[in-house]
Amino acid sequence: MIGRWAVGEATAGRILGTLPLPQPTVTAPTGVYRPSVDSAMLCRRMVNHMQTHPKGVTSVIELCAGSGIASVYAALAGARVTAVDDTRESVEAVAVNAASNDVTVDVVRSDVRALPRLDPADLVVANPPYVPAPAHMPDGHAWNAGPNGRSVVDSIIGVLPELVRPAGAALLVQSDVCGVTPTLSGLADRGFDAAVTDEVVVDFGPVMHERALWLESQGFIEPGERTERVVVIRAVRSTSAVPRGASR
Ligand SMILES: C[S@@+](CC[C@H](N)C(=O)[O-])C[C@H]1O[C@@H](n2cnc3c(N)ncnc32)[C@H](O)[C@@H]1O
Repeated sequence: MIGRWAVGEATAGRILGTLPLPQPTVTAPTGVYRPSVDSAMLCRRMVNHMQTHPKGVTSVIELCAGSGIASVYAALAGARVTAVDDTRESVEAVAVNAASNDVTVDVVRSDVRALPRLDPADLVVANPPYVPAPAHMPDGHAWNAGPNGRSVVDSIIGVLPELVRPAGAALLVQSDVCGVTPTLSGLADRGFDAAVTDEVVVDFGPVMHERALWLESQGFIEPGERTERVVVIRAVRSTSAVPRGASR
């Protein structure tokens, strides 16, 4: 546990300021998720993982890349990086941010539910949308994740066996509002040894505040609850992993 913090760029900046790499310049134009606490938690854990497994991480795939902040950090740390997002605005932002920090990031525009073939990587990272959303929300593609908040998280869990090479790892960020236990068990079912490595309690930001009464009515949060636990999950793929449904 690293404390109870406010969401937003200032807190993200404070977390990123502790990393042993120069802080890249990253911009997020309209329509692109502005890096926040969850983004910074992912970057921090990813840089730590890369520095403690220096020979084991030469390739990184970032899913749901947004501005590409994690991709830029991964490239600065020396990896070959592929960033995936399904919006035009994001893939353009990743390209701009990579160029302005003098690093190379391959950019793929794709829904995680229909990925093109990608070479498996040593490390796959993602900060996907994870906020439960009532049907027909007009805005919020970067955070709305269906009625149970798991529409993207579960799709990512499903593709990880193809994207993470044996003995490689994945790092996923999510809130406990959409359930950490189903993520850990979904990963275990697919041959990953998964655990929460970082967590922070954050005060609800504007999106969660606006939706709080609906979240209460659906049982996602307790009445009056206005904080959430944001976690980073590390999942290490077993060398002998056999995906669920496959026969030995
Ligand atoms: C919470 S933002 C995170 C952005 C960035 N990784 C960060 O941490 O700052 C989630 C991103 O996922 C993208 N996204 C949402 N649904 C997606 C999907 N089905 N396939 C691929 N990307 C998706 C959004 O466009 C958005 O950029």
